This record gives sequence, C-alpha cells and structure tokens, in this order.
Amino acid sequence: MSKASVILYITVGILVLFLISYSPKKKSDHDHHHGGHNQHHRLKLRSSFNFKPTRHDPVPFDPLVADMERRREDKEWERQYIEHSHPELVSHSQKETTSGAGHEHAPGHESQPEWEDFMDAEDYLNNEEKFNVTDRLILLFPKIDVSPADGFVTESELTEWTMQSAAKEVIHRTQRDMDVHDRNKDGFISFSEYEPPSWVRNSDNNSFGYDMGWWKEEHFNASDANGDGLLNLTEFNDFLHPADTKNPNLLLWLCKEEVRERDSDKDGKISFEEFFHGLFDTVRNYEEDNHNSTHPYHDLPEGPAKQLFSQLDKNDDGYLSDVELLPIISKIHPDERYYAKQQADYIISQADSDKDGRLTLAEMIEHPYVFYSAIFDEDDTDDDYGYHDEFR
Ligand SMILES: *[C@@H]1O[C@H](CO)[C@@H](O)[C@H](O)[C@H]1NC(C)=O
Ligand SMILES: *[C@@H]1O[C@H](CO)[C@@H](O)[C@H](O)[C@H]1NC(C)=O
Ligand SMILES: *[C@@H]1O[C@H](CO)[C@@H](O)[C@H](O)[C@H]1NC(C)=O
Ligand SMILES: *[C@@H]1O[C@H](CO)[C@@H](O)[C@H](O)[C@H]1NC(C)=O
Ligand SMILES: *[C@@H]1O[C@H](CO)[C@@H](O)[C@H](O)[C@H]1NC(C)=O
Repeated sequence: MSKASVILYITVGILVLFLISYSPKKKSDHDHHHGGHNQHHRLKLRSSFNFKPTRHDPVPFDPLVADMERRREDKEWERQYIEHSHPELVSHSQKETTSGAGHEHAPGHESQPEWEDFMDAEDYLNNEEKFNVTDRLILLFPKIDVSPADGFVTESELTEWTMQSAAKEVIHRTQRDMDVHDRNKDGFISFSEYEPPSWVRNSDNNSFGYDMGWWKEEHFNASDANGDGLLNLTEFNDFLHPADTKNPNLLLWLCKEEVRERDSDKDGKISFEEFFHGLFDTVRNYEEDNHNSTHPYHDLPEGPAKQLFSQLDKNDDGYLSDVELLPIISKIHPDERYYAKQQADYIISQADSDKDGRLTLAEMIEHPYVFYSAIFDEDDTDDDYGYHDEFR
C-alpha cells in the first residue's frame, strides 16, 4: 500500500518535472517563430550526439559556443565509447537499472549524463550579463570582415569563417579518434591498429559502405599519401573525410567506390541507365543549390543527363569509368566548403535588411539570433526551420 503510493508520488513528481522542463522550451520556440528576437528567447546547446553520422550539422557561428558544444560532445563521446568498447565497465550500473531499481532515475537519465554541466552552460549562454550577443557580434565582426576589412561581411568572408570553425571541429574529432586507434601511441595509425567504427562492425554487412570498400585496406592505402604504411593526423583525417582531401589517389578511390555503388549489373562501369537513375540527381541537386534555378531544360529530364554523360565519357565507349567520374566527384560528395557556403548564404538571406548581399555590423546586431540559430533545437518541424533540412 505505502509502496504503491511512493511509486505514485515519484511518477507524479517526474511528470511535473517533465512539464516544467518542456513547457518553456515550447514557449521559446514559439516566440522565435512569431515574435522574432525578443528577450525571452532562450539559446540552446545541441544535445544530440551519434557515432553514426547521418547528416551534416551546421557549424556554430560563435567559437565560444563551438567550444562549449565540443566539450559536451567529448563527454558524451567518452561515455558512448566506454559503453561500446568496454561493456564490462558499465554492466554493473546497467544491471542495477534493469533490475527494478531503475525507477529511481529520471527518464532520460542515461542519455543525459552531464545534465548539470549542460544546464550550467546553457544558463551561461542565456545570462545576458555574462553572454551578451550584441557584445559577441561586436567582438567577432572584425575577425570575419578581413578580406578586405571594409565594414561589410560578404558571402565569401562568412564562408571562410565557417570553414575555419568546421575545419577545427573536424580535426578535433579526428584527433580524438586517432588517440583511440593509435594503440602503440606513436602518433600514426597502421592498418592493423585501425578497426572500423563499432556501428559498422556490429551491424550486418549491409550497412553503408562496409560491403564495398570503406574502412578496408584499399581505402587505407589510398589515404596513405606518402606510402609509408602509416597514417599521420592529416592522412587519417583524409581517410575519414575523403571528400575534403587534396590527395589524388584518395579522390580516385572515392570514384571507384562510386562506381561500385552505382554499378547495379556489376560490369565494373557505369552505363547511362545507371548514371541517370542515381548519380545524375545528386549532381543536379547540387547544381541547383549552388547556382540558380533558371534551368532551360526542366521539361526534358533526359536531355541534360545525356549531355553531361557524353561530356564525361572521354573515351566514348558508352560507359563511365572511375577516372571519368573525377570531374564531378566533388559534386557527388559535397565538401565542407559546400556546406559552409550554404550556411553563409542562409545567414545572409536572413539578416541582410537592405538586400545588398552583404552584412554590416548593424544588420547583424539587428538579427542576433540568426547567428545563433545553429544551436537551436533541431526537433522542430515548423517551416521556419527548413534551414536545418539543408544540412541533413
Ligand atoms: C549588451 O551589450 C550592449 C552593448 O554593449 C548593451 O547596450 C546592453 O545593455 C547589454 N545588455 C545587457 C543585458 O547587459
Ligand atoms: C562482415 O564481413 C567481414 C569481412 O568482410 C567479417 O569479418 C564480419 O564478421 C562480417 N560481419 C557480420 C556481422 O557478418
Ligand atoms: C596496401 O599497401 C600494402 C603495402 O604498403 C600492400 O602490402 C597491400 O597489399 C596493399 N593493399 C591493397 C588492398 O592494395
Ligand atoms: C602527414 O604527412 C603528409 C605527407 O604524407 C604531410 O604533408 C603532412 O604535413 C603530415 N601531417 C602532419 C600532421 O604531420
Ligand atoms: C543563372 O543561370 C543562367 C542560365 O544558366 C545564366 O545565364 C545566369 O548567368 C545565371 N545567373 C547567375 C546569377 O548565376
């Protein structure tokens, strides 16, 4: 009897906590959509982290926010890494959870191990005396407006700024992966030291890429630019992000992968059919995003595909080989610059009051939350958030 009522009280307590913690969020989202940037707008850090990359996340505009998110991600990463790689260390606490004592934990306890740190960081961001977005923008503006420093932030300056942050993020994650894989701690990864990510190893072999060449020796060898059998940080970063490499071998490997993936009749090359039903859409979408939508041949879907195909088919054998895909590989696998440019275009389109295609400090101060929108919650489906879809 008393036990039942204790459970009831706990359940009600948890529900109340849930309502308290969720309703302000709904409210602030609402404010954002309809009230623009008012003072009750709450800045949020992103809280999701997944080993299995599914989409391209926007990069935080402000290095201070990036730093907070990075520290938080590191902790989350560490926890998941230990769960994946050393289950014996967590089995004890998990047993406790599943044997009935779990009611003591609030829901979401497991997924929010650093909840307090997280809330502290968010409280900091939302304390206007400590984190004043106007002051942040005044401080950051001259760092972005550099080529030339003329009082205007242009698309290319903003793209460059985003690229710098993105590169920092990427190399940080690579360094973290490297520390894990580099068993003998010599600063290099050998092929025998490297193990594919656990989400690849644990899935059936149909998971993305593994049945093809990703994480295999050919991929490793192509990344090893100086051919010494070891990957240093740069080479390992290229291995993980081949679309961003300048290493021609690795780009060619990426083309080979593309052929393997698209080659449905397994003849080792890409026919027009295979090109048209797969690759061409990827390239065309890229072109539409990147250029303008005044396509003269919207009504003739096969026309432009045929045209591009014959342009690429240098030896006129009616098929595309790996080498023949090289000119479009950066369109099939967009690089960081592509995403950075998208993000810059979005920001400018939202904050450019006088529509001259560039931003003044005054325009930025007028729309501060455009610059901090990358840290808003992503589970929102409202139209205003269509922006995030571009990065999926
Ligand atoms: C934020 O900074 C601006 C400019 O320095 C200032 O006018 C404003 O009062 C500050 N806001 C708060 C809440 O301190
Ligand atoms: C997937 O294939 C690799 C070799 O290609 C093999 O070592 C591994 O055991 C396979 N995994 C599963 C879950 O079948
Ligand atoms: C990768 O390179 C090593 C020598 O560095 C060679 O022994 C091995 O056969 C190569 N593997 C593949 C798949 O090309
Ligand atoms: C890694 O080696 C390449 C040559 O393969 C070199 O260009 C690069 O600077 C090296 N990177 C580091 C971090 O040492
Ligand atoms: C848009 O595309 C048309 C036709 O492809 C081209 O003539 C025009 O220069 C493009 N405009 C811009 C701004 O790129």
